[in-house]
Amino acid sequence: MASTQLYDTIGATYTATRRTEPRIAARVWAALGAARTVLNVGAGTGSYEPADRDVISVEPSALMRAQRPAGVAPCLAASAESLPFKDQSFDAAMAFSTVHHWQDPIAGLREMRRVARRVVVFTFDGSDTAWRRRFWLTRDYLPEVADLLVDWPPLTELARAVGARIEPVPIPWDCADGFFEAYWRRPEAYLREDVRRGVSIWAKVGPDAEHRVVRRLRDDLESGRWAERNRDLVDIDAAELGLRLLIA
Ligand SMILES: C[S@@+](CC[C@H](N)C(=O)[O-])C[C@H]1O[C@@H](n2cnc3c(N)ncnc32)[C@H](O)[C@@H]1O
Repeated sequence: MASTQLYDTIGATYTATRRTEPRIAARVWAALGAARTVLNVGAGTGSYEPADRDVISVEPSALMRAQRPAGVAPCLAASAESLPFKDQSFDAAMAFSTVHHWQDPIAGLREMRRVARRVVVFTFDGSDTAWRRRFWLTRDYLPEVADLLVDWPPLTELARAVGARIEPVPIPWDCADGFFEAYWRRPEAYLREDVRRGVSIWAKVGPDAEHRVVRRLRDDLESGRWAERNRDLVDIDAAELGLRLLIA
């Protein structure tokens, strides 16, 4: 299923758990520098759009566009791979947590580069297996995530497409935006249906894997096995789980 269709199917409850995480937003907005005009690509419901700049958004899913609150930036129906703007139309183009959904990520990134003088992308390093071994959810419960990343271009290739430098983004333990890795120190959250529905990975691995993870995690939380295996996490305030900013 193409990702636009995916979000027209799974996007209905997105805002229940997905919202701006202020500490990560501060990193994105700092990376935008002095940009006055900003294009937000794959904008979804508008999280991370800076309120103090002139923003225009593009988002292919009608269901996601329909959930944008009143007063946020105007949003066009378009995809990253074919942005309906002239060359160098914006000071900056940003994309948050969306590149992994694009049919052709390299083409989409080149489009961002074409229409903007600066590019800021929040994504993850799919070629780095270290975080998948470090993150108990992928290591002990959902190894299928590795299969989802088989055809994903290396982060260096994505960075090269826009001439970007790469910066790590640690995830605070109390991250407000409920993306996949957000609850690394709050394992009970993954037992919640609304938390899982806000993350596309669960739709991609399918209901059998999802139910297996929930069952095993619940058992391990009840028996104390999870706490025993992950007792080192209690003292950590931010985790390095492969999330990255590309800045060009
Ligand atoms: C996880 S959501 C992120 C939304 C928003 N950026 C945020 O941070 O909340 C991924 C978004 O990417 C959009 N998307 C999927 N394919 C796309 C494409 N080819 N071009 C642009 N956006 C796309 C989806 O419709 C969805 O709204």
